[in-house]
Amino acid sequence: MTTTILQFGATGQLAREMMLRSSGGVAIRALSRAEVDVTDAEAVARAIGEAPDVDLVFNATAYAAVDKAQSEPDLAHAVNARAPEAMARACQARGVPLIHISTDMVFDGEKAGAYVETDATNPLHVYGASKLAGERAVLENCDRALVARVSWLFSAFGQNFLQMMLKLGATQPLLRVVDDQRACPTASGDVAGFMLSQAQRLSRLPADAPEWGLLHLVNDGVATRYQMAQAIFELAWPDRAAPGMQPVPTSAFPTPARRALNCELDTAKLRGVFGLTLRPWREALEDTIEDLNLAAVNA
Ligand SMILES: NC(=O)c1ccc[n+]([C@@H]2O[C@H](COP(=O)([O-])OP(=O)(O)OC[C@H]3O[C@@H](n4cnc5c(N)ncnc54)[C@H](OP(=O)(O)O)[C@@H]3O)[C@@H](O)[C@H]2O)c1
Repeated sequence: MTTTILQFGATGQLAREMMLRSSGGVAIRALSRAEVDVTDAEAVARAIGEAPDVDLVFNATAYAAVDKAQSEPDLAHAVNARAPEAMARACQARGVPLIHISTDMVFDGEKAGAYVETDATNPLHVYGASKLAGERAVLENCDRALVARVSWLFSAFGQNFLQMMLKLGATQPLLRVVDDQRACPTASGDVAGFMLSQAQRLSRLPADAPEWGLLHLVNDGVATRYQMAQAIFELAWPDRAAPGMQPVPTSAFPTPARRALNCELDTAKLRGVFGLTLRPWREALEDTIEDLNLAAVNA
């Protein structure tokens, strides 16, 4: 039997990975912004309430411009907090589960080790605060909700650190890359693969199942931006001279939104409750770079 996912968002990197990877047992009905602007709570409720068949709702939308959010807090909260709240209420009314995506940026980075799901949050900026408000709204308004926190997403689609490094590397002889921010680089494709593999099971789980609630969902391993950039050029340009790279502190790039320095996420719940891990980030990066190379050949 096919599991039908109603997905908000059709153009973002995670949204596209979901659509690309769904097959046989899982069908995705993706709604673009033109079909449903998620800041319109009534349109969100209608989309969920009136969908002919839906087993699970997946929210792949976000206001993801971390620095710009500082000057657009209302819009950031509308997309990242009020929209998921409307989804959660409509899912609860319809009796279907909601999967929502959040971020490591709900933390302030002051912890010495990896953050677990129950650690205290303390976002440093508007984006993080809006995502935290979204997490809470989802968990308060829907009994069967999974809120997956992901980090440093990369993909062959969209704007992300991988694409940015390759673009800069092609034009600049020396890249200055931050070496004091650490997190778990994560392939959007692996997050999508997890969601698709779990969709049928999640759609049938009762409200008291341990799977619901917060989940740290990241590829295995941790890196600084500098270490990730090194891996990008090693894997993407094995036969080509990489640009020079200079490690610099975060203070070398002042940004409107202050970044947390440690965003490592602990994945014990993923292992314990789902019995799974996501593979090492470098392996996932290698595959994503292959996807990029294939796309370039086919372009
Ligand atoms: N990217 C990262 O490194 C990262 C890290 C941690 C967590 N996350 C989280 O991961 C999730 C996926 O991120 P992503 O990188 O895939 O985001 P993305 O590429 O920026 O995509 C965002 C999506 O949201 C849609 N959207 C924005 N406002 C909308 C509105 N008012 N109505 C309908 N659709 C709207 C966009 O549509 P348009 O194309 O029409 O604008 C786009 O499809 C998000 O929850 C994000 O917060 C991302």
